[in-house]
Amino acid sequence: MTGTAQIGVTGLAVMGRNLARNFARNGFTVAVHNRTTARTDELVKEFGDEGAFVPARTPEEFVAALERPRRLVVMVKAGDPTDAVIKEFAPLLDEGDVVIDGGNAHFEDTRRRERELRERGIHFVGAGISGGEEGALNGPSIMPGGSTESCATLGPMLEKIAARAEDGTPCTTHIGPDGAGHFVKMVHNGIEYADMQLIAEAYDLLRAVAGYSSAQIAEVFRTWNTGRLDSYLIEITADVLAHTDEATGRPFVDIVQDRAEQKGTGRWTVQIALDLGVPVSGIAEAVFARSLSGHADLREAARGLTGPTAVPLSGPEAAAFADRVEQALYASKIVSYTQGFHQIRAGSEAYGWGIGLGAVAAVWRAGCIIRAAFLDRIRSAYDARPELLSLLSDEPFAQEIGAAQDDWRTVVAEAVRQGVPTPGFAAALSYYDGLRADRLPAALTQGQRDFFGAHTYRRTDREGSFHTLWGGDRSEVSTG
Ligand code: 6PG
Repeated sequence: MTGTAQIGVTGLAVMGRNLARNFARNGFTVAVHNRTTARTDELVKEFGDEGAFVPARTPEEFVAALERPRRLVVMVKAGDPTDAVIKEFAPLLDEGDVVIDGGNAHFEDTRRRERELRERGIHFVGAGISGGEEGALNGPSIMPGGSTESCATLGPMLEKIAARAEDGTPCTTHIGPDGAGHFVKMVHNGIEYADMQLIAEAYDLLRAVAGYSSAQIAEVFRTWNTGRLDSYLIEITADVLAHTDEATGRPFVDIVQDRAEQKGTGRWTVQIALDLGVPVSGIAEAVFARSLSGHADLREAARGLTGPTAVPLSGPEAAAFADRVEQALYASKIVSYTQGFHQIRAGSEAYGWGIGLGAVAAVWRAGCIIRAAFLDRIRSAYDARPELLSLLSDEPFAQEIGAAQDDWRTVVAEAVRQGVPTPGFAAALSYYDGLRADRLPAALTQGQRDFFGAHTYRRTDREGSFHTLWGGDRSEVSTG
């Protein structure tokens, strides 16, 4: 027996429900299922008139409602719940069916699940979906990874529900095999953390050094959003800063506890970057900054430590400083994306995914949390030169960051002088200086390693590796 639904969604919490509605609103017949049936009933009752839903009470009913080959989207919590759902549904599926995991899964889990299901002839697609609740309903950015065959059958459906870039292109593309989609989504989230941290630092500097009120800073962000920083995160930052707390009449941002939480995708990005040997220092600082903010006890214990108290500027000096912060923010943002794209390239090489970096930039242009006007320029850079090693080597970006650097340095120096923590700005600047340095102190590190551990070193003037007999006559021996 075969059903009529072209797609099914199981797991109807807000993301799953909105995704199901998005499919239905785009003309697809959608089978819907949830472990507790009340959610299924609620969806059909509240939104049944938006399109064709087929409510299913049991996994068997759900599977029977789907046309063949079946396509079912799993929208449950990443981790064990995903495995539990797969375990429950896999025995009910046939060869050629496609299971799509739309959660924030770890890409290694996705690789394992893909392999296990492939052995049973079932396709498993790990799809990164970005854009939050609103995106799921009105158009997310979708990053599917899996077999070419399954992604080809899914492609047209995903294109219908995805966000569209300004040029009309849907923000979804087959990223690569098995875990490639979830890997790219993970790095997206790492960049999201870095972007948010940089914006937070800019806010802090505008507050403490420029002496602006939250309302004034909201205006600054609004202005920035009309320029090269034009992005979703800058836009919502202005809204958050302009919001007044109803209960106290104070700026909303002042009544929120200053402890940032995290669910783990930023941390994964850094963990994997360490394994791949990719310096994602900006992303790492963002994760650590959240972690530092959360250590209330440590912070309390350190409250008495001495340091400068920022003295706010005023008038034209404050305005000039705000302009400098824009430069620092933009330059640091270029560095975050440079690091993120480096990580995607490294992951793609390590796992043999063949990910097109231009295509990734293209699907991030709309729908996702890090959508930003400048992603179109990143897309052009990689489309023009797919072999481009680093975004910083792209001439237009190199020029912009070069032009921003005086202000960038002034801002970091001023932050250090006034005691305002800017780990994101500073790490980005150090990355830039590290990459462009003629000579790094790594040479000394190598000397030390050779001294205490006979780890050997390479010379600048000859091939091969060498060791100095530090404990003996300090002559040099060739080691290979
Ligand atoms: C998105 C978001 C989302 C993500 C959180 C990160 O792309 O829609 O990246 O998927 O889970 O924004 O959450 P935490 O800040 O809690 O880690």
